[in-house]
Amino acid sequence: MCGIVGYSGKGDAYLSVYKGLCRLEYRGYDSAGIAYPEKGDFVIIKDKGRVSSVLDRDFKCGSGTVIGHTRWATHGTPSAENAHPHRVGSVCIVHNGIIENYASLREMLTEKGYTFLSQTDTEVACALISMYYDLLHDPIKALAVAARLFTGSFALCIIFKEYPERIYALRKESPLLIVPSDGFTVICSDLTVPDFDFDSYYIPESGEIAVLDNGKTEFYDFSGKNIEKMAVSGSFKGDVHVSAGYGSYMEKEIYQQPQVLYKLFSESEEKYEKIKKLFYNVNAVHMIACGTAYHAALTASGFFERVSGIPAYCHLASEFRYGEFIPDDNGMNIVISQSGETADTIAAMRYLQKNGRKVIGVVNVPSSTVDREADLTLLTEAGPEFAVASTKAFTAQVALLMRVAFFISRDSKKPGQYLSTLVKTVKDAVFNALENSEYIYNVASVMSRNSDSFYIGRRTDYALACEGSLKLKEITYIHSEALAAGELKHGTLSLINDGTPVIAIITEETVKDKTASNLEEVMARGGEVFCIAREKDMPDCVKPGNRVILPDIPFPTTVFTASAVLQLIALKSAVLLGRDVDKPRNLAKSVTVE
Ligand code: G6P
Repeated sequence: MCGIVGYSGKGDAYLSVYKGLCRLEYRGYDSAGIAYPEKGDFVIIKDKGRVSSVLDRDFKCGSGTVIGHTRWATHGTPSAENAHPHRVGSVCIVHNGIIENYASLREMLTEKGYTFLSQTDTEVACALISMYYDLLHDPIKALAVAARLFTGSFALCIIFKEYPERIYALRKESPLLIVPSDGFTVICSDLTVPDFDFDSYYIPESGEIAVLDNGKTEFYDFSGKNIEKMAVSGSFKGDVHVSAGYGSYMEKEIYQQPQVLYKLFSESEEKYEKIKKLFYNVNAVHMIACGTAYHAALTASGFFERVSGIPAYCHLASEFRYGEFIPDDNGMNIVISQSGETADTIAAMRYLQKNGRKVIGVVNVPSSTVDREADLTLLTEAGPEFAVASTKAFTAQVALLMRVAFFISRDSKKPGQYLSTLVKTVKDAVFNALENSEYIYNVASVMSRNSDSFYIGRRTDYALACEGSLKLKEITYIHSEALAAGELKHGTLSLINDGTPVIAIITEETVKDKTASNLEEVMARGGEVFCIAREKDMPDCVKPGNRVILPDIPFPTTVFTASAVLQLIALKSAVLLGRDVDKPRNLAKSVTVE
């Protein structure tokens, strides 16, 4: 993971890098640092901790060249030594990715007399570049040789003592974008970084080197040959501020959902026209994703089958990519990713494409790797999501998959009936569900006082249970498990004690009685039972204070009301525990390592 940013040219390079790092903290936030050239040497400021605690926003550095980094530890614990930038000799670098062969490179470099201050793969990369730079006296040649020796994925920004006005960069797989402006250039892990308007940017491809020099950018390949590159048109129009009235990005993003969902369900079919040809003759759909995006696939898949008439299978990308299963020619593959940068999801997509299969990407971040490499992309357009725990991107993914099902349905009557209800109800229903705060607060206060919790449901509600439980774990650090309600008695019931909280979700009327029986079983063992359901689906056994009543709108609108409530339960529990809601410990939003 990690976020990298560099600034070269006129203007306040330090402040721009500082602000860029704050925006990239969602990628990792256990350490931070910057470096810049000064008087023939480097100044490096770095330590473990958040950007705002390691760096002083008002610092003035006087250099037009600054590189910066925010870290999510892969090699070595969070510490000042392991924080980036790293320097060896005349070279100083920041890195996002993993140099997989760093151990053998380190051994070789140690034999040659290099010593290392950190446990990182990055310092090894720096030493290798430095060694070739000392030999070849040419940054491009040194970078080209070193790049060919690295295995793994990396985006590196490099400064050389002898070229204080330049930033060099190398990319293989890890994201890296270059945004030119008037007299200066910014290089960064994503487009939220630039705090100025722009209408075009460069995307260095895997296997390319870039050189930023006072507002100009040149490109080379890994053999050191100069290459022509066109900027792509595009900008970033996202609100990157926590708005007044919200305590966190996560809260703001939860409350943006009514609008996001309404937009997705009411937009015209034009966007979906392009998938028509791909679904001709399709006999199965494979949905592949990680984390919350995987739960979105699970949540949508049952409904998808019901409406489209095509079986839908969900796969964890981190498992799928190492299997030997290749869907047959008549299968359609959909990878789902908020960031479009999740390493395992990208690997699964490439594995399918290498085997001649087409892949549709369902992505939130335009110009991300999945957006660029999928055979066809459908953008969820939920707007930028900054909280590590995904909320509005999840519901947008579910909604978009539902719309795909409507579009390809083999029963022409079904889609219209569902879609018109969704368009009419979803916005107000989700808003009203979120307003049910008294009961949500009650659940949260019990959850926050327990060290274990369980979420149960059947079918779609099992998928929602998985997501609700993951949300709670992510931001409260309370142990939680999700179970298909019928599975509780096959083992996990042994963990239910006096007062253990168990939350049931009922959005599908057809299974309500079965889930109600499972709640009775929990109560008989002393468990504290909660339920999220419409009044008419609410099991009698649930105490009045433990009922979170959803607006009386039919399934599948209930999927969105229930998921919003689950998100709010996690958020409120985390706030009660005093957790850092947007940046939970050990996690990062964009998992660009395997
Ligand atoms: C990380 C994030 C999760 C996200 C998952 C997949 O674990 O913390 O919120 O669901 O990655 O990310 P993607 O960007 O592929 O949806």
